[in-house]
Amino acid sequence: MLSSYLLLFTVALVASNFIYKFAHKYRNLPPGPLGVPILGYLPFLDVSNLGEAFKNIAKTYGDIFSLRVGTEMAVVLNSYESIKAAFSKTELCARPNTFMFRFFSQGENGIASTSGEKWEVQRKFTHSNLKALGFGQNKMESFIKDEIHDLIELLEEKSKGGQPVEIGYDINVSIVNVIWALITGERKPHHDQKLRDFLTSVNKGIELASTSGILLFMPFLVKIFPESMFGIDKMRKWMKHSYSYLQEVIDEHKVNHTDVISNQDFIDAFLSEMKKDGAHPSFNEFQLLVLCSELFGAGGEPTSVTLKWALRFLALNPHVQAKAQAEIQQVVGNNRMVDLEDRPNLPYVQAMIHEIIRFSDIHPIGVMHSPSEDTELEGFKLPKGIFIFPNFHAVHRDPRHWEKPEELYPEHWLDANGQFVPNHDGFIAFGAGKRKCPGQEVAQMELFSFVANLIQKFNFSLPASDCGTLETSMGCVVSPKPYDLVLEARY
Ligand code: HEM
Repeated sequence: MLSSYLLLFTVALVASNFIYKFAHKYRNLPPGPLGVPILGYLPFLDVSNLGEAFKNIAKTYGDIFSLRVGTEMAVVLNSYESIKAAFSKTELCARPNTFMFRFFSQGENGIASTSGEKWEVQRKFTHSNLKALGFGQNKMESFIKDEIHDLIELLEEKSKGGQPVEIGYDINVSIVNVIWALITGERKPHHDQKLRDFLTSVNKGIELASTSGILLFMPFLVKIFPESMFGIDKMRKWMKHSYSYLQEVIDEHKVNHTDVISNQDFIDAFLSEMKKDGAHPSFNEFQLLVLCSELFGAGGEPTSVTLKWALRFLALNPHVQAKAQAEIQQVVGNNRMVDLEDRPNLPYVQAMIHEIIRFSDIHPIGVMHSPSEDTELEGFKLPKGIFIFPNFHAVHRDPRHWEKPEELYPEHWLDANGQFVPNHDGFIAFGAGKRKCPGQEVAQMELFSFVANLIQKFNFSLPASDCGTLETSMGCVVSPKPYDLVLEARY
């Protein structure tokens, strides 16, 4: 009898200690809905449209709320102001230290999934070199123009006879080829088998990453079930494939790299940094390999998906396409390609590109952050290690910032005189603050060049059988379902 009382007493003590610790850790969190044990609020969320689901919860609990997703506590930021305020704090710019993030960073490598000093050093290097190699560089612009030239030739051939064609893969090859050129200093022909194999392995890795999503919210599952259940083994295989292609290119660069610092491409720039006296220890070959692979994943996929959305939106909004074409006709004509230098004279085209990026909403709940230490935000306490979701979808559809949030409306970006205004409160597609996308300039440069030159050459429309819905397929980013287009050469 006594032993039963003792057991009961011990259980009660342990339970109350656990509840006290839990309550203490999470005291002063933002308000939010309650969930159920283990699954948290997951069973009540539409996981295929988390941006909209979070937006609806914010109507009850306010712009900053908390909830448990699986076993993980999360805070969701639903306004432009709260995301900017949060991400301007270094302590809120770490990544969660969970199984999937460790897996993607292969320990603690690359920049997209890492935190702390190494992340800061590597990010600074990556950002400044992407800028130096890409933005405003003649060599980079000529790579992009050659790529567009080849793509146009291919599309002319493919769409001969006026039949609808699917061009998603061709777009993907072109965009990845530009990033390939930025990283390796060499552009490959479209039919190059190595480029295609490399693209396949990157795409397979990205595709599988979305099937392992459940591990983000319930990391303990990987300790109970075999990795193969979540596609981790296949992901490893495809990552190994892409690493071996990149390793070959790195090895070639090592042979040709001289001490005369030429920095023709990203790999060259990194190798030069490695050789510097007193270089940070994170400048090593494995870091270079993971970083290059990340640039293809983090850079190629969002840019090519945005371009796929762009052509679908323009086919669905022929008045926007026609207005942009008229501006190009007036400023550039059709005897030469559209250059980056034409940008200041093409305010409507620039507005249209920015509006496409806002409207395509490819990262509806951004990329997760996590506090590196307990941190205050707008009167709430965000404990170390929880997840922070920035709800980009809510911001990009917020009527406080956008006159017509549910429409593709380039005028959002034009002033009363029709001049392009590049900075717009409520635009968050590339993130905010210390962890903002380091490839923003490269992405905007690519999207401007591709879209402007493609609509200079073709009219894009939908086949009669397409009823114009905006169906999406889920992956690391939200892309349009594969669709056919009718391309009509304009001259
Ligand atoms: C339309 C195209 C693109 C969009 C919408 C986009 C958006 C984003 C977003 C939302 C993040 C997460 C920011 C955060 O954690 O707060 C990010 C991170 C990143 N992006 Fe982009 N991106 C694009 C293109 C590119 C390109 C072209 C590159 C490089 C060539 C690139 C490289 C990266 C890298 C390396 C990171 C990780 C940065 C870090 O964790 O510190 N992105 N991007």
